[in-house]
Amino acid sequence: MKTRLLRTISQVREYTFGIRQRGLKVGCVPTMGALHAGHGSLIDHARAESDAVVVTIFVNPIQFDRKDDYERYAKGLESDLTFCELRDVDAVFTPSVEEMYPEPIATFVDSLDLSNYLCGASRPGHFRGVATVVAKLFNIVQPDAAFFGEKDAQQLAVIQQMARDLNFPIRIVAVPTVRESDGLALSSRNQRLTPEERLNAPAIYQALTEGRRMIENGEWQAEQVKTTLLNRLAGQPAFRVEYVDIVDPKTMQPVDSISGDVRIAAAVWVGSTRLIDNVLCRAS
Ligand code: PAJ
Repeated sequence: MKTRLLRTISQVREYTFGIRQRGLKVGCVPTMGALHAGHGSLIDHARAESDAVVVTIFVNPIQFDRKDDYERYAKGLESDLTFCELRDVDAVFTPSVEEMYPEPIATFVDSLDLSNYLCGASRPGHFRGVATVVAKLFNIVQPDAAFFGEKDAQQLAVIQQMARDLNFPIRIVAVPTVRESDGLALSSRNQRLTPEERLNAPAIYQALTEGRRMIENGEWQAEQVKTTLLNRLAGQPAFRVEYVDIVDPKTMQPVDSISGDVRIAAAVWVGSTRLIDNVLCRAS
């Protein structure tokens, strides 16, 4: 099937309006391009649950806290389009920055407490930029369901909260993290790793799974788990740990004593590349 390429807001509106009018369901997968099998899994879930799948590809300037990170962000529309075509995507919406932000915007979506810790603490304004662009994309595409990866668990929580608080009539679907065979979570940023860094990067997931084992075996003190993980990660000279935390999966607030479901989340600089990962654990 040929994937439609839509560049303007009015083109997407017209396209999805036609679909909804026929009583069919639209599934949306928001991305920033440089598509890999993690995005592919989101698309497959959308394909299975929708009549028409719209992938959005937009590197959103207002969610980058560092200009160099924005400028370095991989862009390769041709291969992304082929990727979408092979996965039976109905339409790709890839607007220009001018189309999305014809003038500086004055209205933002902010998700207070959810953004205080983890990535929110170290990347000021990041989740405000994410929530704002996703709200705009929801209003433009007007999907029935939208698909997000658990790899970015705090982003997922921010969007679920936003959909509830602002009454978006959109089902938010969480998709499990896709990993390389050695455990490294797929990410567009992995391309930036040197061969040696790539070899060491799976140590992040190994540390997280060790933390999960401790919790499943009855460890209830978050501090103990954190210390073990930090010691593990300190064994890697090229790593600089930005945070390791154990949080409530819904509120993303750190917990001291562990019970029920928790998420262990980490952000680690591997050389000059910042990687994030997390695992969900159930206390025994
Ligand atoms: P991007 O980093 O391109 O990710 C798009 C979607 O793919 C997100 O929902 C992310 O969680 C998911 N994803 C990335 N790697 C994954 C993996 N290994 N397994 C499963 N899912 C994975 O996240 C963004 O873009 C942007 O912030 C966006 C939501 C598009 C707003 O600009």
